[in-house]
Amino acid sequence: MKDADIQDLSFDDWDELKFPRKTTQDFDEVVERAISRRGFLGSVLAFGSGAAVMGTGLLKGTTAMAGQSSRFAFDQLAPQTDGTVHVPDGYKWDVLVRWGDPLFSDAPEWDATTGIPTEGSDRVFGENTDGMELFHKGGTELLVVNSEYPNPKINLAVEQEGASMSADDVVRLQNFQGVSVMEVTEGENGWEVVVDSPYNRRIHHRTPMIIDGPAAGHDLLKTDDDPTGAASLGTFNNCGSGRTPWGTYLTCEENFNGYFGTTEELSLDDVHAASFKRYGVNTDVEPGRYNYHSFDARFDISKNPNEPHRAGYIVEIDPWNPDATPVKHTALGRFKHENAAYALSPEGQVVVYMGDDERGEYMYKWVSRDIYVPGGDTSTLLSEGQLHVAKFNDDGTGIWIALTPEDTGMTQAEISVFTRMAGTAVSATTMDRPEWIAVNPTAVEAYCCLTNNSRRGATNDDGSIRTNAAGEPMVPNAPNPRELNNYGQIVRWRPHNDDHGASTFDWDLYVMAGNPTVHSDGPYAGSANINAGNLFNSPDGMQIDTTGLIWIQTDGDDDNEGDFAGMGNNQMLAGDPVTGEIRRFLTGPNGCEVTGLTWSADRRTMFVGIQHPGSPFPDGEGSLPRSSIIAVKRDDNALVG
Ligand code: FEO
Ligand code: CA
Ligand code: CA
Repeated sequence: MKDADIQDLSFDDWDELKFPRKTTQDFDEVVERAISRRGFLGSVLAFGSGAAVMGTGLLKGTTAMAGQSSRFAFDQLAPQTDGTVHVPDGYKWDVLVRWGDPLFSDAPEWDATTGIPTEGSDRVFGENTDGMELFHKGGTELLVVNSEYPNPKINLAVEQEGASMSADDVVRLQNFQGVSVMEVTEGENGWEVVVDSPYNRRIHHRTPMIIDGPAAGHDLLKTDDDPTGAASLGTFNNCGSGRTPWGTYLTCEENFNGYFGTTEELSLDDVHAASFKRYGVNTDVEPGRYNYHSFDARFDISKNPNEPHRAGYIVEIDPWNPDATPVKHTALGRFKHENAAYALSPEGQVVVYMGDDERGEYMYKWVSRDIYVPGGDTSTLLSEGQLHVAKFNDDGTGIWIALTPEDTGMTQAEISVFTRMAGTAVSATTMDRPEWIAVNPTAVEAYCCLTNNSRRGATNDDGSIRTNAAGEPMVPNAPNPRELNNYGQIVRWRPHNDDHGASTFDWDLYVMAGNPTVHSDGPYAGSANINAGNLFNSPDGMQIDTTGLIWIQTDGDDDNEGDFAGMGNNQMLAGDPVTGEIRRFLTGPNGCEVTGLTWSADRRTMFVGIQHPGSPFPDGEGSLPRSSIIAVKRDDNALVG
């Protein structure tokens, strides 16, 4: 494969290229188990290889209420396949900010065909918008937004076809990623960024960071540039977001492995060999996706084998202090962090739910040692406490297993750096790519999007089941019951004793995406709350609003053909947690992922992220496509969440 073609691959496809299966198995070869779709929400089901027994359908107290009127304030939007955004009648949208728009008046001017030059590329809104949170104080509103990864083919000179060919290219890519902090305001012309606000800030791949928690200062984190092992540069592949009750922003480092490579054949010790294998760091001598390592030795693992150990964390940023150094919290573990959803236990402990978005990896939960007291000391709440990993039982119960030195055989620092290995040591449940987790503010429950897993139950040449990177076979299990799961599902759990700090819970599946118009019955038809009108695949982003409505964003196959016929472009839907009803609200331009959602202080505007549109959105023909944040409002300016 040419380097230029590598730029077009999704992270999943790149992973498949690097770690190919031994054979292919056609979707049609899968023997569908007989299930009753009608019974899904409200009774026990059995399907999937090994007849994994489903949970209890809707959890107690959430039985669908026949005849209840819909809670949605909009009519369902039809699927769309064009190059723009659609919202239901009674709503409108406008662009707030696009990749390359200035945060400061000295930023370089956007060029419709070449974008932004390297000089000043850290003075504009970053590329590939993802997780975001809005903070407000007095009349000031700050929007803090992740820029997940760059699209080198449109960031670099056209003739380079996406290949970094100089240190200057690398700096430009590094500047377009990370986090943008910007003041926003609503005036007569709608929402806009306050250029030159003293709060505006860009954090990118070279911004100084503090490392805290059990791994800070450990030999595994020391490099030539940082012999302390406690001061790194940059935050990487900032995917989903989170916030703390004390008003700071959490950015989540996901596919950090893709930024590292080697310029020489490697001779690795056992620790580094196991580390790179489990976390997917490329050990072959090749340019890879970004080719940082050829021009910036920090990313060359033949020279700096510990640098990858300094990425893959939850990073805390104080949006109100542009001079504050971001903090990497190693206590919350190192994996491909999707987002961070907090809750408080009844006693006031801080609970943070987190997913590791890779096929067959796990879900985690942090519980602080100390309690949160408004206005009190918060300095220990993300560094002193206990990290847990999820084990789902077939009977609809589950356990958060504490990752302790006693049970994992690892030191506390090793648990923080090699968290995936710690999860394997205690037999955590392999999941279908945990994406966003959302906590319901109106009920003691949480939800996680399990976006898809094409390798679940797939076989190798010898008939063995494909494994995750730990070598665990990804056989279907209760919360991940489908072989070759190309549609995804959303799992929900309720902690026992109404306590998010509790170590046990009950769970069920809120929805199983599918296509009943293509598969009339069986697991690929989806659950009973999927119908011809609300088809979607690959749930990913998720937030629950103050009224308890679940907003689901998708990052899936949008070719609208075959198994995906009738789904259209990626989209955002709303779900009722009580009745299970799901209704399409918004569609993005073709090729895009809809990701990132937050609300204005007055809750009359939803900010929605449109990442990597496949059309020249939003500027139109003749312009490069630009990831953008849009502001969605009701025509009557009523509340939207
Ligand atoms: Fe960056 Fe798993 O999405
Ligand atoms: Ca995502
Ligand atoms: Ca995704």
